[in-house]
Amino acid sequence: MAHRPDPRDPADVTLNPLFARPGEARSLPRYRLGEQPMLPETAYQIVHDEAMLDGNARLNLATFVGTWMDDEARRVYAEAFDKNMIDKDEYPQTAAIEERCWRMVADLWHAPDPATAIGCSTIGSSEACMLGGLALKRRWQESRRAQGKPVDRPNLVMRSAVQVVWEKFCNYWDVEPRYVPISEEHRTLDGHGLREHVDENTIGVVSILGVTYTGMYEPVAKVSAALDEIQKETGLDVRIHVDGASGAMVAPFLQPELAWDFRVPRVVSINTSGHKYGLVYPGLGWVVWRDRSLLPESLVFTVTYLGGDMPTFALNFSRPGAQVLLQYFQFLRLGREGYREVQQASQDVAKFLAAGIGRLDAFELWNDASDIPVFAWRQAPGHSHNWTLYDLSDRLRQKGWLVPAYPMPDDLADLTVQRIVVRNGLSRDMARSLLDDIEESVRYFDKLTEPLPDAPRSSYHH
Ligand SMILES: Cc1ncc(COP(=O)(O)O)c(C=O)c1O
Repeated sequence: MAHRPDPRDPADVTLNPLFARPGEARSLPRYRLGEQPMLPETAYQIVHDEAMLDGNARLNLATFVGTWMDDEARRVYAEAFDKNMIDKDEYPQTAAIEERCWRMVADLWHAPDPATAIGCSTIGSSEACMLGGLALKRRWQESRRAQGKPVDRPNLVMRSAVQVVWEKFCNYWDVEPRYVPISEEHRTLDGHGLREHVDENTIGVVSILGVTYTGMYEPVAKVSAALDEIQKETGLDVRIHVDGASGAMVAPFLQPELAWDFRVPRVVSINTSGHKYGLVYPGLGWVVWRDRSLLPESLVFTVTYLGGDMPTFALNFSRPGAQVLLQYFQFLRLGREGYREVQQASQDVAKFLAAGIGRLDAFELWNDASDIPVFAWRQAPGHSHNWTLYDLSDRLRQKGWLVPAYPMPDDLADLTVQRIVVRNGLSRDMARSLLDDIEESVRYFDKLTEPLPDAPRSSYHH
C-alpha cells in the first residue's frame, strides 16, 4: 500500500521555470489533480525528472526482472503497446503468437505431447502461480466431492523459503500453508520431512526451481520419489507444481540433463516469468499444464476470438499484449543456442563474483551460482561485531549498486544473507568493479574499532 503523505512535503510540486510554457501553472498539487491541462513537453519533463531519482536498473542486482533488450525489441514494444491481450478477436495474430509461445515453452519443458498440453501467458509468475495453485485446489475438490468426502480443509505443502506469492495464494484462496522447515542440512525441499506434512487434504506440493532467497534448485525428482513412497504407504497420490519463476528458463539451457520438468511424471504444471530469465521487460509470465485434463473445465471462461469462442483462464481481464510479442521476438532472436549463450554468460559472471566474494575472510558462501546465476553469502561467523551485511548493502548503495541483505525465512531467521542476481547486461568488467567496491568496503569496515550505529534497514521483500 502507499506511504502516508509526508507532512513535511510542500502541498505543491514547484516547476522549474524553464519547463513551464507561457500561461502554464508554475506549481501543481502533489496529491490532487491539477485544474488545468499542461503541454505534453512540460508533463514529460516533470515525469522524467521525478523518475530520475529511481536507482539505475542495470546496477540493480536485487531484481530478477529483465532490464536490457535489443533496440529492435524496443521497436516491437513501441509498435504494440496499445494492444490488449484479452482482445483476441481484434488482435488474432497476437493471440496466435501467445499460443505458439506457450507451446514452445511446453516443448522446452518436455511436455509429453505439446499438442495436448495447455497453457497461457500471465502478467508474471505471481498470477501464473495462482492459476497453478487454483487448478490443484479445484482438482482436489472435484475428486473429493466425487468420493463424498469433505473439501473444507485443503492444504498446500512447500518449503518455508517459498516466494511470498505462495503465502498470498494460501491466504486469498483459503488453503492452509504447510511449511516444511528449512535448515542448514536441508537447504531446499528435498523430500526430507514431507511425510509429516502430507495428508488426504493436500492439494499438491510446490517445488521451486530457483529459490528466491538463494537461487538454488529444489530437487524435484527427489520430492517426487518421496511422494512415491508416501503413495505406496498411504495410497495418497499427491502431485507437484514447479514454480520455475527464474529456473525454468535457465535449466533447459544450462542443465539440460536435469529432470525437473514434465519428465518427472508427478509434475502437473509449471510456471515461469517471461520477464526474468525469459529475457523480456517486466509484465510477462507463463504457466503450462502437462495435459488439458489437468486444468479443470470449471475454471475456464470463454472470450470471443475470430467470431468463435476461445477458452481463457486468467485473473486479469485487460493486460498488455506487447510483452507476449517481445517474448516471441526473443525466441526468434536467440533460439536455443542464443539462450544458452546468454544464460551461460550470466552464470560465468555470477561464478566469478561468487568465487571472489568466497575468497574474502569476511564471508562464507551459501551457494555458488551453479544452478541459476544467483548466489547468496553470509558474514563468516565471528568475523566482526562492528558491521553487518546491512551496512555493506548501504555502502554499496552509495556507489550505485543495489545488493540486498535480508534474513532467511522463519526457521533460519537469525541468519542474514546477501544475494546477487546476475542478469543479462552485467558484464565481467562491471562485476570486477563491484568486487573492487566490496573489497574496499570490507577493508573500510574491518578498520572500525567500534560497532556502527544501527542504521534504519530498508526491508527487502521476496
Ligand atoms: C520463486 C518465485 N516465484 C514467484 C515469483 C513471483 O514472480 P513475478 O515477480 O513474476 O510475479 C518470484 C519472484 O521473484 C519467485 O522468485
